[in-house]
Amino acid sequence: MGAFVIGAGKTRFGPTSRSLPQLAQEAIIGALADAEMDIREVEAVIVANFLGGPNEGQLHLNAVIAGLMPGMHVPSWRVEAACASGGVAVHQALISLTAYDPILVVGVERLSGVVGVELTRNIGMAGDAMLDQSAGLTFPATYALVAQQHFATYGTTSRDLEIISLKNHANARLNPLAHFHHKVVEQSDIDAGPTVAAPLRLYDCCPVSDGAAAILVSKSARGPRSVPVLGSAVSTDAISLVQRSTHTSFPAATDAARRAYAAAGVTPADVDLAEVHDCFTIAELVAMEDLGLAAPGEAARLVRDGETMIGGRIPVNASGGLKAGGHAIGATGVGQVYEIAKQLRFEAGDRQVDGARVGISHNVGGVGGTCSVTILGGVQ
Ligand code: COA
Repeated sequence: MGAFVIGAGKTRFGPTSRSLPQLAQEAIIGALADAEMDIREVEAVIVANFLGGPNEGQLHLNAVIAGLMPGMHVPSWRVEAACASGGVAVHQALISLTAYDPILVVGVERLSGVVGVELTRNIGMAGDAMLDQSAGLTFPATYALVAQQHFATYGTTSRDLEIISLKNHANARLNPLAHFHHKVVEQSDIDAGPTVAAPLRLYDCCPVSDGAAAILVSKSARGPRSVPVLGSAVSTDAISLVQRSTHTSFPAATDAARRAYAAAGVTPADVDLAEVHDCFTIAELVAMEDLGLAAPGEAARLVRDGETMIGGRIPVNASGGLKAGGHAIGATGVGQVYEIAKQLRFEAGDRQVDGARVGISHNVGGVGGTCSVTILGGVQ
């Protein structure tokens, strides 16, 4: 589509005492250094964040983050689409390149430090206020409904979800920026995990992470490490499950995938690796099926056969995903693009996927109310 990721930076995801601007600054400095670019070349800034208001009492984040660039007066705006804020911001930047070039996209979030019940309520604001929130439906409970339906329709089992959790925790051990990089997770840990919302237990859930990620996009390549953007799309749906006819697939994701594949001129068979939105382990299966990486009901078999592991036919969430890499909500979609760019440049270290030429990222808001899909190609 005539655009490139020319720089990428990311903080570690996980609990920290650092502020939103401090986190954003680290990611921005990383992206600029990666692109070997002076900050004064940036023509616009797009900030992705979900809960700066309720969690931090800080809105107007577009100016807070752009204000990190002293003396600059760049156009800047904030994108909010719940957990898909980052992916939507990337898409927004790509379509804004006709007006500004290059554009800096910064995803940032602080979730730690807010007591559990309040945080769960704040995250729940991504659900429909009248249909979901008023009924007390939390996000773990919403995804538990998806899991129950997937189990009933396709015979998926809790064991399939455990394999995903073990895989993603093992991958996080290879990723120094992952939330659970230092944690060895074994079957006994999973077995000991309490039920959060049946059938989902602790190790089916992503953690609560702080963090930031930044990318620079441009219509022009900037050196041989520029990563071509092949396709990018966003789609939406009714945000409550009760308004949908299917709970085993997210039509916003299938629609975004269809648009992104068409723009990229590739098919699922061309994809070498995927970073998908596994906020809960069941969501990784739904994502694989929505992206066409597996037929409906078939993703669990690929997981059981080890085909989604690093070294398998289609590695999924080599970074550790949201499950073990962490989910700093507004930063997640930008961090996924950072990860795919690293892989396609063969800079992913111990978690490198051999022969990566086409990578896809998939970022979901709520329980499929919004979905963004970005497809990147190998460096020239
Ligand atoms: N997976 C594995 N371990 C986890 C974990 C997770 N998701 N969440 C917390 N832990 C671990 C912590 O590291 C800690 O371990 P330690 O005792 O060795 O330090 C322990 O469990 C207790 O942590 P705590 O923060 O008290 O957990 P909690 O019970 O308050 O929260 C969840 C657990 C699952 C409820 C919370 O992580 C959560 O809400 N996750 C979902 C977030 C979400 O909905 N995001 C949006 C998705 S759409």
